Amino acid sequence: MESKSGSFLIVTAVCLLLCVSVCTAQNTGKFWHVTDFHYDHTYWSSMLSCNKEVSPSPYGDYWCDSPWELITKAMGAMVRYHEDVDFLIWTGDTVAHIKDDNLSISINMDVMSNITEALKTHFPNKTVYATFGNHDYYPSDQFPDFNNIIYNRTAEMWEDWIKDADQLDNFRKGGYYTLKTQHGQRIVGLNTNLYYTSDKETPGIKDPSDQLQWLRSVLQKSKTDGEKVIITAHIPPGIHTPTRAIWFHDEFIDPVNGVLKDFADVIVGMHFGHDHHDGFKIFYNSQGKAAAPLFVAPSVTPWRYKLPSGETGPPHNPSVRLVTYDRDTGKHLNIEQLMLDLVAANSPDSANFTLLYNFTQHYNVPDISAASLEMLVTRMANGSEGDKLLDDYFRFTTGGANQGDITCDRTCKSRFLCGFRHYTFAEFDACVEGYVGSAVSISASGLLITVLLALLTLMGN
Ligand SMILES: *[C@@H]1O[C@H](CO)[C@@H](O)[C@H](O)[C@H]1NC(C)=O
Ligand SMILES: *[C@@H]1O[C@H](CO)[C@@H](O)[C@H](O)[C@H]1NC(C)=O
Ligand SMILES: *[C@@H]1O[C@H](CO)[C@@H](O)[C@H](O)[C@H]1NC(C)=O
Ligand SMILES: *[C@@H]1O[C@H](CO)[C@@H](O)[C@H](O)[C@H]1NC(C)=O
Ligand SMILES: *[C@@H]1O[C@H](CO)[C@@H](O)[C@H](O)[C@H]1NC(C)=O
Ligand SMILES: *[C@@H]1O[C@H](CO)[C@@H](O)[C@H](O)[C@H]1NC(C)=O
Ligand SMILES: *[C@@H]1O[C@H](CO)[C@@H](O)[C@H](O)[C@H]1NC(C)=O
Ligand SMILES: [Zn+2]
Ligand SMILES: [Zn+2]
Repeated sequence: MESKSGSFLIVTAVCLLLCVSVCTAQNTGKFWHVTDFHYDHTYWSSMLSCNKEVSPSPYGDYWCDSPWELITKAMGAMVRYHEDVDFLIWTGDTVAHIKDDNLSISINMDVMSNITEALKTHFPNKTVYATFGNHDYYPSDQFPDFNNIIYNRTAEMWEDWIKDADQLDNFRKGGYYTLKTQHGQRIVGLNTNLYYTSDKETPGIKDPSDQLQWLRSVLQKSKTDGEKVIITAHIPPGIHTPTRAIWFHDEFIDPVNGVLKDFADVIVGMHFGHDHHDGFKIFYNSQGKAAAPLFVAPSVTPWRYKLPSGETGPPHNPSVRLVTYDRDTGKHLNIEQLMLDLVAANSPDSANFTLLYNFTQHYNVPDISAASLEMLVTRMANGSEGDKLLDDYFRFTTGGANQGDITCDRTCKSRFLCGFRHYTFAEFDACVEGYVGSAVSISASGLLITVLLALLTLMGN
């Protein structure tokens, strides 16, 4: 009797232990985020995207947009590294930095169609949540507030992914849609190009394509239904650092941030492109609590910008990222950031994409939720550990590409720290002033950067 009840107790204890480990085990899934392919279909002929006279290399050049070989190498690497993702996010800018004179609606659509087909071939039977980039429109950046042939043709290309008839209607109306993933998260794909400072079609229009009114109603319904939302779009809100840029027309900054803020508690992650730089931000709810993490994925294109003044931007190593999340809660858990060392890729050894950093491991955080990013940013602001973390963050902005003598100085670090948390120039500038101390030097360099950015905006991104 005694030994029987003893073993019964042991068995019960073992069962309980098993249940605790199984019941608390996270049901994790993964998705890819890929952005800014900027496919230069003239790479092997006229090299129209290149900002310097170079001869073609097997996988591309820091001065140029992507040759086809780089794009299929990136997709091949994604399949090899992790084929069985739950879905993919693709945030646009598929067309190269080529003047409108040398593009047309039909060239842009051909480029988009070929890359769409390549993604379908590499990831058959996976849903890609795709959104437009400013370069995908023709003429470049000029998204109008009404239906057009580019929306219609793209809807045809992407209807295997968007499927739902009502959402295809939304897409044809304004380039936005919403769908639910197989694990119950709500994806909201936005067309933030409508707010871009280079778009001359939308200023003065209260709510271009009724997108914000629609967004508010979608988020309100998610809140009521207890859904968790993943936002994805090309152009990110907030302030681009270490430069000091807001990509949205003034009149759209508060309306966009306002809707997101009102529903920040239902948003589990936001994913953007456009910057070409790797970066993250913390989005706060209306009570000022860190609520949603915001990520900008680095580009596939290595392209360096060049301003009319001759000023040039940094090189980028082609990049793709794998995100881990909790399928039950939508909580974002980790990023594995892959990059291709372009110099090594073009060498006889022909290097492949490799892991540049593992977010949770590198930064020693439990996950990549807003609360964890908030703790990380506090550490980044503190002493020599903070200095080192910001140096790493700076190195990662370009996919680890060699930036020569350029390092992240005190102003650069202050801008990073303030850009993680502030979404208006007034708050951002006050924050930077607090770190750097000298108002005079900041406003002088701030002015310089503003002039630079005006030029950059002319060039598009
Ligand atoms: C690009 O456009 C210019 C006109 O702006 C034209 O002279 C040139 O031939 C075009 N180049 C190509 C390769 O189509
Ligand atoms: C797209 O693919 C087709 C078929 O392979 C090819 O003929 C065409 O040149 C490609 N277009 C571009 C812009 O690369
Ligand atoms: C495609 O996906 C569906 C649903 O996710 C699944 O049932 C089916 O087995 C998949 N087919 C292939 C060939 O992977
Ligand atoms: C786009 O498609 C819709 C629905 O099929 C149609 O009503 C509309 O006229 C089309 N727009 C253009 C510019 O062709
Ligand atoms: C790159 O990947 C390819 C395909 O898997 C492989 O054959 C090749 O050996 C790899 N190259 C290096 C340098 O690892
Ligand atoms: C990245 O870090 C996580 C958490 O430490 C770990 O589970 C995962 O295996 C790491 N991935 C790689 C590729 O090292
Ligand atoms: C700053 O770092 C020091 C040691 O490096 C640590 O003792 C202190 O708690 C940190 N402060 C904050 C606010 O994290
Ligand atoms: Zn771009
Ligand atoms: Zn862009």
